[in-house]
Amino acid sequence: MLLLAIETSCDDTAAAVVRNGSDVLSSVATNQDAFHAKYGGIVPEIASRRHVALISAAVEDALQRAGATLESIDGIAVTRGPGLIGSLVVGVAAAKAYAFASQRPLYAVNHLHGHVFAPFLDRVEEPPYPFLTLLVSGGHSQLVSVESATELSVLGRTYDDAAGEAYDKTARLLGLPYPGGPALDLLAQRGNPDAIAFPRHRPSGDSLDLSFSGLKTSVRYFLESEAGGDATREDVAASFQAAVVDVLMARLKAAYSRAEYKAVALSGGVAANSALQAAFASWARANDIPAFIPPPQYCTDNAAMIAAAAFYQRDAVRADPLTLCADPNLAFPLSP
Ligand code: KG4
Ligand code: ZN
Repeated sequence: MLLLAIETSCDDTAAAVVRNGSDVLSSVATNQDAFHAKYGGIVPEIASRRHVALISAAVEDALQRAGATLESIDGIAVTRGPGLIGSLVVGVAAAKAYAFASQRPLYAVNHLHGHVFAPFLDRVEEPPYPFLTLLVSGGHSQLVSVESATELSVLGRTYDDAAGEAYDKTARLLGLPYPGGPALDLLAQRGNPDAIAFPRHRPSGDSLDLSFSGLKTSVRYFLESEAGGDATREDVAASFQAAVVDVLMARLKAAYSRAEYKAVALSGGVAANSALQAAFASWARANDIPAFIPPPQYCTDNAAMIAAAAFYQRDAVRADPLTLCADPNLAFPLSP
């Protein structure tokens, strides 16, 4: 089953052609960072206008690289939500038009389900159900129990900043360019993670929720203090990163101990983080837990993961090309 997928929920104009939810024949994404960098964050109006300008070329590029045509495609998958409304509308309108013109079925995917299925891409082995996913991106941080392709439940989530948001805001405090996550990751690799003892959030009782706003604020206070003037940016970055990774790993381990999971997975943009990957892999190895981390290009937003989710959830997410609407607040999980 060959799917053409479109993903425009935020600022990446992405298209992909994927066979059977795993074999990626093409995955293209046009990054808009240069247009948003001077504002220090994504400007929704600019994002939707760039999507309008780029979407047709992205789809044609994906088809051509895959050696496919609209006639050889079995269906069209698209991100329906959650995300920026203007951005989503562009992808959904394009997907409806391609599906209607080609008379192929349309599949409407929840963006977060896309992240959950990213570990299925380009894999010999699929994650076995049930597995536990730590989904950490610019907009979301959640622990997701994946019992089957369509039975997902959120065990814990952040009640303030998402992990990626904390990275981006802290990177800004350190004077790093937007998007700050990858730049902070690189800077941290040259610093001492034990240099500064930033606070680790602990939820009350047996909650698996996360919080990062206190950490971000304490980095700001530290930088404004006398000690902050003496510290190197590398040490601040490494110490901040150590605190984020500690909090994420503590919650992941707590969730893992509460049920019989057959595997663990990382997904979302922050899953590309070197320190998180190292901590995750060494814990899984030490405990003999099968662990799945998508290749970096499938951690951050991409269309291949939307094709994967559409393939595995195809019976639940079929949509009408005449009536499908983008939904910026689409609930996660379960709503197709
Ligand atoms: O999944 P994603 O592309 O978009 C959302 O759905 O939000 O995630 C983007 C987020 C940004 O906050 C970015 O700074 C962060 O992922 N990110 C990283 C790294 N690469 C991307 N954060 C830390 N370390 C990285 N290497
Ligand atoms: Zn995302």
